[in-house]
Parts: sequence; C-alpha cells; structure tokens
Amino acid sequence: MTQGKFITLEGIDGAGKSTQLAWIIELLQRAGLQTVVTREPGGTLLGEQLRALLLDKSIAMHAETEALLMFAARREHLDKVILPSLAQGQWVISDRFTDASFAYQGGGRGLDSEKLAILEHWTQGTLQPDLTLYFDVPVDVGQQRVSQIKVSDRFEQEQTDFFQRVRAAYLTRAKQFPDRIKQIDSSQSLSEVKIAVEQVLQHLLHDE
Ligand code: TYD
Repeated sequence: MTQGKFITLEGIDGAGKSTQLAWIIELLQRAGLQTVVTREPGGTLLGEQLRALLLDKSIAMHAETEALLMFAARREHLDKVILPSLAQGQWVISDRFTDASFAYQGGGRGLDSEKLAILEHWTQGTLQPDLTLYFDVPVDVGQQRVSQIKVSDRFEQEQTDFFQRVRAAYLTRAKQFPDRIKQIDSSQSLSEVKIAVEQVLQHLLHDE
C-alpha cells in the first residue's frame, strides 16, 4: 500500500491555522484522499493529558521540562497515530509538530537548538513532514485575534517579545528548509489565504 503523506501546520498563536485546517481537509477529501486530523501537543490519550499540563497557567515548569514533555507527547503521537496512519495510506494533518518546539522552546524560551535537534533525532529519527504550511502573521495581529477568541493559556499569556522571538525562529526555519516549509502570508484576507493554501497543496497532490 502507498504511504500517506504527512502535513503539518505552524504559526504563532492567532495566525489562523485552525481556520485553514477545515479548508485543507476539504481539499484533500475532494481529491479522494483519506485524512486523519490530529494536533500537538496531544493526539493520544497520554498526549492530551500532557497537553493539559503544558497549557495550564497555574503550573510553572523549567523550559527544558517543557521541551521534554513536548517531545514525550510527540513520541507517543508518532507511535500511536502518525506512523500507523501513514502506513495505512492515510494523509495525516497535524496542527503543529516539531517546528513548534524549535520556535516556542528554542526561539521563545531561548533553549539551545542543538539540544532540541538531539530530541528531534531521538524522537523521530529522520522522519520529517512531507509539507509544512507556516502561517506567518505580525505579532500584534496574532495577539489581537487570540484575545478575541478565548481565555489565554500558558503560552498565550506570554508578552509580545516572546512571540517576536517565536515568529523570528519560524521565519529562520522556513528559510532553512524551503522545500518542506511553505510560508503563507496570513495577514491577507481569509479568501486570499485559502487560495494560497490551495496552490501549495496542488503541488503536493501533483507530486503523487
Ligand atoms: P495551539 O496549537 O495554538 O492550540 P489552540 O489553538 O487550542 O490554542 O496550542 C498549543 C500551544 O502549545 C501553542 O501555544 C504552542 C505550544 N507548543 C509549543 O510550545 N511547543 C511545541 O512543540 C508544540 C507542539 C506546541
């Protein structure tokens, strides 16, 4: 059976990736593909419990503990959801993956990216997403959108300079891995972003 493809969505909080997720699923299903939608941290029973701890504002933790928990959840996610689904020919779409660790724990919290690369290699070997859509938005726009939506979690309560570093780290990674990470200007109108998403996905669909 042909392996499915692995697509990940990234961006600072409020970049609008959740809104585009529904559109991506629609496009893939229209193309006759079977999809599995999941998220990080989370996606498994244990992963969702780790997510609850990681997002809980009342729980303080060392930046390295935070990184280790993110990768622990990811290890479980790969084992229980991502790898088996790909092997069954399903297309897996994950709302965030390892680029988020480099952006948030690396850029935001200032952890050494070499340490994160060790965890990356330990957790996933050489596996990388086939495509990463990075939704780029200026920090003030992202923050405005978040504050309109809901009560902030442990990450969303961070200050502007934290998100500036997260965004800068995402931009650096997009430059570092231009074949895999496709940057989408998420400050455009919703319909413009949808068109950009469709164009990027068409490339992957035509590679089939
Ligand atoms: P998010 O995906 O934005 O979910 P929601 O839309 O429900 O708020 O929340 C997950 C948070 O976890 C987000 O602020 C980024 C953070 N995160 C990391 O810091 N490192 C990681 O490796 C991952 C996967 C997420």
